[in-house]
Amino acid sequence: MTTGVFSRRGFLVMASALGLVKAGPWVLKGPCIAAPQSIEPREGKMSYEAKDYSRLIGMKGFSENLLRNHFTLYQGYVTNTNKVTEALAEMHKAGKTASPEYAELKRRFGWEFNGMRLHELYFENLGGNGQIDASAPLAQRLAKAFGSLQDWESDFRGVGAMRGIGWAILYQDDLGGRLFNQWVNEHDVGHLAGCRPLLIMDVFEHAFMLDYGLKRADYIQAFFQNLDWGAVEKRAK
Ligand SMILES: [Fe+2]
Repeated sequence: MTTGVFSRRGFLVMASALGLVKAGPWVLKGPCIAAPQSIEPREGKMSYEAKDYSRLIGMKGFSENLLRNHFTLYQGYVTNTNKVTEALAEMHKAGKTASPEYAELKRRFGWEFNGMRLHELYFENLGGNGQIDASAPLAQRLAKAFGSLQDWESDFRGVGAMRGIGWAILYQDDLGGRLFNQWVNEHDVGHLAGCRPLLIMDVFEHAFMLDYGLKRADYIQAFFQNLDWGAVEKRAK
């Protein structure tokens, strides 16, 4: 599995070449970079806190084991978003913005941040009964944009079934209101600038393999059965 804009192996090679693994301000821990304990959020500075999505436990088609593992992964993105934010600020303060370490961490920030935020949007559009009111404004817009609601859904499912790890996202272009089903690779590649994510589906393997193995279409079916269309509708303005 890769870890963002560069592979884990690529990062290790780079980090080793730069002396980061042995002596730099960074240590490598698990699948992510972890800052040493000396780099903590400064007093008075805002940091993100992981939200509690335990209300989702019990959803039909999602085991408790899968969900609890998924929540733990999400919490890691929150932790690392805070760590990377703080580390970048420290490096700026130390006059190190021209360093390769700063450049690579700055690139990594989008991966960690989007990993955090996309999971929040994903969990928050789950926990419903999957029913969509065909007369609701968003449903009407989807039908108009794609020919019918069924055509929109089949396209969205098709995006979600694409090979690779990432996200299927229904976007609204805030400039003009057009609607797009989009693939986002990993967490950070393919976002549409100026567009608002309305409906988010995680298609990383960790989102379904524990329950469905390689049967991604079955997971997508379970996802749709638990969609909270009310939450999606609220995002459309
Ligand atoms: Fe995920």
